[in-house]
Amino acid sequence: MPGLFITLEGGDGSGKSTQMDALAEWLQQQGRTVVQTREPGGTDLGVEVREIVLHSRGEVTPRAEALLYAADRAHHVASVVRPALERGDVVIQDRYLDSSVAYQGAGRVLDPVEVRDLSLWATEGLLPHLTVLLDLDPAVGRERLEVSRTRYDRLEAAPDDFHERVRQAYLALAAAEPDRFLVLDATRPVDELQQSIRDRVSHLLG
Ligand code: TYD
Repeated sequence: MPGLFITLEGGDGSGKSTQMDALAEWLQQQGRTVVQTREPGGTDLGVEVREIVLHSRGEVTPRAEALLYAADRAHHVASVVRPALERGDVVIQDRYLDSSVAYQGAGRVLDPVEVRDLSLWATEGLLPHLTVLLDLDPAVGRERLEVSRTRYDRLEAAPDDFHERVRQAYLALAAAEPDRFLVLDATRPVDELQQSIRDRVSHLLG
């Protein structure tokens, strides 16, 4: 496929949206067509799944949670991401399958290999060309969220040890696939982080 698929990952409050927006603007200035999207919630169906999985009042068991994210991903990839990549667009996406491995695998303590395989089945094996991991101590992420949040979603409200497991899982994923991942310390200034991301993307675009 001629397009470029870039995903951003990291804990809640790590600054993914800020970096996404700046990256999209820079690429558009260079005449690239950019599709900015996210999971969960990048399609109409995804918006409904997002509401269930993040704000359901009742319990959502771990396997059901993993399947809901995978269902959102299957539909999103087939109807938005693949068509954009086939057109040659740059897709910049807030969260993808690494979120499932970190949150449902390490966080909810499901088998990370099974969770990854579920996503690969859902997406017919689509992996990003680049995944930017904004690494942050979850305690710092929580402080950042406290400034802006009036309500927490089900995942944000999970206890500190959950978020520490998520962080460690992300770092392990990055270590296992160093060519795909760019790991950045999310406490660095916003502009410096953006520059590091642009350097890497420039390299990929050749
Ligand atoms: P996000 O959109 O980053 O939250 P917000 O818009 O509130 O900043 O992500 C929503 C939550 O969903 C986040 O806590 C992580 C979780 N999540 C998973 O647990 N598994 C997944 O596969 C994905 C995509 C997200």
